[in-house]
This record gives sequence, structure tokens and C-alpha cells, in this order.
Amino acid sequence: MNSSTAFVSFETKSISQYVLSPTIISLVLITCTIALAVYLGQNLGARPHVNEPPFISSKLPYIGHTIGIWKHKMSYYTILSAKYRHDVFTLPMFGGRLYIVTAPSLVAPIQRHYKALSFWFLEGAFTVKLGALSNQSAKILLENAAGREIGNSLVVDGMKETHAAMAAGLEQMTQVAVDIVASQINGIKTEVGEKLDLWAWLERNVALMTSGAVYGPTNPYLDPELLQGLKSFSEESTMLLIGFLPSVLAPKGYAGREKIVKGFKKYFAAGGPKHGSQLIRARFHSLTEYGISLEDISRFEAVNGFGILINTIPTAFWSVYHVFSDANLLATVRELVQPLLNITKTDNGDPLFTIDIRQIKEIPLLVSILHEVLRYHASGAAARMVMEDFTLEGKYLFKKDSMLLIPNREIHSHGETWGENVGDFDAFRFIKNTTSSKKPPSGAFRGFGSGVNLCPGKNFATAEILALIAMMVLRFDITPVLGTWAYPGDNNKNMSTVICSPDAPVPVEVRLRQGRELGTWVFKATS
Ligand code: HEM
Repeated sequence: MNSSTAFVSFETKSISQYVLSPTIISLVLITCTIALAVYLGQNLGARPHVNEPPFISSKLPYIGHTIGIWKHKMSYYTILSAKYRHDVFTLPMFGGRLYIVTAPSLVAPIQRHYKALSFWFLEGAFTVKLGALSNQSAKILLENAAGREIGNSLVVDGMKETHAAMAAGLEQMTQVAVDIVASQINGIKTEVGEKLDLWAWLERNVALMTSGAVYGPTNPYLDPELLQGLKSFSEESTMLLIGFLPSVLAPKGYAGREKIVKGFKKYFAAGGPKHGSQLIRARFHSLTEYGISLEDISRFEAVNGFGILINTIPTAFWSVYHVFSDANLLATVRELVQPLLNITKTDNGDPLFTIDIRQIKEIPLLVSILHEVLRYHASGAAARMVMEDFTLEGKYLFKKDSMLLIPNREIHSHGETWGENVGDFDAFRFIKNTTSSKKPPSGAFRGFGSGVNLCPGKNFATAEILALIAMMVLRFDITPVLGTWAYPGDNNKNMSTVICSPDAPVPVEVRLRQGRELGTWVFKATS
């Protein structure tokens, strides 16, 4: 290489590095947006209709709230709602309005009008953006996505198939999930006590049991890089949704998604669904029927990782954490699940521990713990698209093409709804007829959504998490390495989940309980 070429290539490289630096791009974007916002604020101004929910303006027109959301994430709505105390309010934003609903009593009416205030429309639009679907698939997916017209709708048909498959395949999926976790945990060496991070340990095991139950023996998430990829994908999902220079401004999320897509392309090409759950077979069937390519089906599935794994893992973690970190609760739970355990002998004379989880959801305290976990650690928001000018409860006008958000943490920490102990973790809160808490109005518990948008994975996730708790309390003693249980705090920065993950590792020592040192553990989930 001569010196002039070297000089040119050095110059080119440094200029492109300079121009493409995410910091510089962000600064240029922010400066332009501020200038535009100030201009628009001065010259156009937002014009609220008298019936719209109260407008909350920001010092910086149009982008002030965007910056607020960027800075505070989901806590931004808490800050505003504590300051203004409206049941519902409007944030004028660049490109439209955002309505924020904080009153639990409004959730059920919103859910009833699921065609005018549509989750499905957003689900389709988000899948297109997040998965970076081809234009052809985007067109198919967005056609009648809200299901407002008679005729084909991939989103609605796909959802019906999903619900049917989850109902019909529930027992079988649960059996596969618990078999996986049993075999993982059977391998654990705990003769002398094993020190580990409870969060990392459960993250891996719950991901494997849940994804294994959905995808079957050739589950792409067996590759740990894919789970890591899904985490980055979900953490940077906001930037990927914006879709501007995603590989530069959300490099980890972008790379994570592409890794998952590659894994799923291999899985589908090799006929993976044939050996998987009814759910993946149904989904594969409806997408191919609608003419979606293999590449885009893989992109769909990368986005579906959010629904399947991103909420299930922290829900399982917090459930186990709360049970083990409260000695009285642990003793009560052990007593309640003990009758599910049957001890016999294997052919070689070792103990065989069988936990029958078929009726586990009939133990009210276990279900209450799981629901309280979803209430107490709530994050994220239910989002709805306003499909037409719509007046809710004869009172609040929502303008067409705006977005409506129901922040879960607001709804779950509403004092009048949940009673004086709203700020406490009350494991017994959701048990009917207990006096410890008030009965919340319909729709106030957002853990699994409600109405037509009720989570189709609810029964499966509940069964596998309760089974996991049962096995862990019957089999292990878990103690904090530091001597006392330190609360790891809530990380609510990820806007794509409905539950926070812990904000710090939770170092624990796991030991087999006395009398449980030997033997194999199995579950019975099917009749
Ligand atoms: C503890 C675990 C889970 C939690 C907390 C959870 C939570 C939720 C919530 C809150 C919604 C409603 C969203 C809204 O109304 O805006 C939802 C919807 C959904 N969930 Fe789950 N979910 C969990 C597990 C699962 C699993 C395991 C699957 C699949 C196997 C799944 C699949 C879905 C799907 C497909 C929807 C969309 C429903 C629709 O379009 O109407 N979820 N989930």
C-alpha cells in the first residue's frame, strides 16, 4: 500500500466512524427535533377537544414527553400521575397524542371496546417493525388486523388458533415443561450445597422448560446464545421499533434478533414443529396458510419470544424468591404441597419422588402468590390503538389514530383499589374471602390481561411455575450466601415486559433437604 492510498483509506475510515457514531447521530437528531418542535409549538400548537382527557403540556412542546419517557421509562407515568392525579390524561406528542389511563375502573370498559381500542392492530404493527418483516408479509399481517371488517385477518385468526391450541395442548405442554426442569435439576450437585445466582439459574432453567414445551426436542433456545440474543432484543426493542438505523443505534438488539431468526430458519426448514407442541404446529399452519415465507415465519417467532419467555422468567423468579425469603410462607407452602408428593422406589431400589401437579392450581395460596408477584412487580403498559374517534363511558373522547396506554404499575398500586397495604407484598391477597385486602374491581388485575386479549399462555405459565415452586420447596433448602435475604430491587427499564426483573444478582446456596439426598424426581401432569 503506498502512502497516499494509506492516507485516503485512513481519512475515509475516520470520517465514516465519525459520521456513523451513534452519539453524533443522536445529537444531530435531537437538535433537529428540538428546533422543529419549538417551531411547531410556536406556530401550530396542540388543539385539545373539550371532551378529551386533560392535556398535560411539557416545557418543550411535542418532544418534552418523549424525552421524559426516554429518561424515566415506565416511571414517567407514575411521576405525572402522582403530580396531576387524573384518572386519564393526554400527553401531546410529536405526531399525535398519547392517552394515559391510571384508573382501574376504566380498564374493563376499555377492554370491552376491543375493536375501537385495538390491541391486535398494534400487535400486528409492532410485529412488522420489531421483526423487520418483508413488505409482502407486512401487508398480509396488517390487513384487517383489528378484525373490524368481515373477512380474513391473520392476527385474529392466528389468535383464535393460538387459544384453541393452548387449551387443547395444555396438559401435554405442561408435562414436557416439567420433565425438562426435572431432568435439569436432577443433574444438580448439591451434596455439599451449591452456590449460585438464583436469578441466572432460574432464567436458564425456566427458559429451557418453557421454550422446550413450545418448540419440542429441536428447540432453538437450547443454544444459550439465542436466549442472550432475546434479552438484548427485548432490552433494545424501543429503538428497534423506531426502526431508524437499527444496526447502529440498537446493535445488540439487532444482532440478537438476527441470531434468533437464523436459529428458527434452521428449525422450520428441518420440520421442527412436527415434534413440537400443538401451539407451534397451529402457528406454523396459520402463517403458511396465509402465504408467509419461511424467513418471515422465523421473524415472527423471534418476536413471539417476548410473549413466551420475557414475562414467564421473572414471574417464576419472584415467586420462588418470595416463598424462600419468608420462613413462615415457606413452611405454609411446604405443608400445602406435601400431599402432592408420592414416594416409591425405582427398579434399583432408590427413592422415586413423584409430584402430581394435575390439581396444583386448586391450591389458592400458590395462585395468590403468583398473582401478587405480577401485581407487586408490575411493569410495562397495555397499549391500544384508537381506531376511530371514540368516547369512553360517555365522558372521555379519544381521537382516531392516537395511542392509549394503561401502565400496569399504576393500576396495580392504586391505593383505593387495593387497600391500605397496597405497598406490601401480601401473599394471601388474592385468596377469596380473606380480610387482609379489598377485592379489586374487574379488570384491575392486569397480570395476564383480560377480555378477548386475555393471555392464551396463562394456564400453561401458571401450571409450570407452580410446579417449579412445588418441586423446589419439597426438594431444596435455599439460603442467602450473605446470611440474610437482601431485596435485589426492581428493574423496570425494559418496556416490553409486564413484570420487572431483579436489579441485582441474588447469590444463594442450594442444598438438598434432609432425606432427599438420593433419588429421582418426576412430575405427573397428564391424566
Ligand atoms: C407469566 C407469564 C406470562 C405473563 C405475565 C403474560 C402476560 C400477558 C398479558 C398481560 C397479555 C395481555 C396484553 C394486553 O392486553 O395488552 C398477554 C397476551 C398474550 N400472551 Fe402472555 N403472558 C405470559 C406467558 C405467556 C406464554 C407462556 C405465552 C405463549 C405460550 C403467551 C402468549 C401470549 C399471547 C399470544 C398474547 C396476545 C393475546 C392477544 O393478542 O389477544 N403468554 N400476556
